[in-house]
Amino acid sequence: MKIILLGYMGVGKTSLSKKLSKKTRIPCFDLDEIIEKSENSSISSIFKERGEVYFRKIEHQLFKDFIEKEENFILSLGGGTACYANNHLFLQKEDIISIYLKASIENLTDRLKKKREKRPLLKNLTEDELQEYVAKHLFDRNYYYQNSKLTVVVDGKSKKEIVKEILQLI
Ligand code: S3P
Repeated sequence: MKIILLGYMGVGKTSLSKKLSKKTRIPCFDLDEIIEKSENSSISSIFKERGEVYFRKIEHQLFKDFIEKEENFILSLGGGTACYANNHLFLQKEDIISIYLKASIENLTDRLKKKREKRPLLKNLTEDELQEYVAKHLFDRNYYYQNSKLTVVVDGKSKKEIVKEILQLI
């Protein structure tokens, strides 16, 4: 099975993919981690030293290589992966189950408040600026996220409930 989990920063893609992996025994992978290993550098350093354009280029290349090579996986994407370099087209491939983890602006802002430091796109924002940024950004990205085959709303649900819902869908 080929499963892709996507959604905005902080929605819980990585932790949900690990939980889903335990239940299904399908191995899980995280695209940010794949990038960090391949570049031997953290996401923050890549943004700082090479810039976002470079990051999006390798993100696309490594995403494409992974999809073409692997047969059985749960892959959690970065929040922006689907929105660059036509990566959203992979979400529609016939052998891929792509799942958009959807959360409200309020929920995302709340989750991201404490976790801005390691996220290059958010680290310079104040707490007050965060909600407006998330609202605008999510609006722009929505088009790409909507290319997913399935959508699971995560607001007000525990991780266990979300995983159960995903298992019923796949
Ligand atoms: C990004 C999200 C990050 C990471 C990079 C860019 C984005 O991943 O890929 O900082 O553009 O939303 P997470 O969604 O796992 O934080």
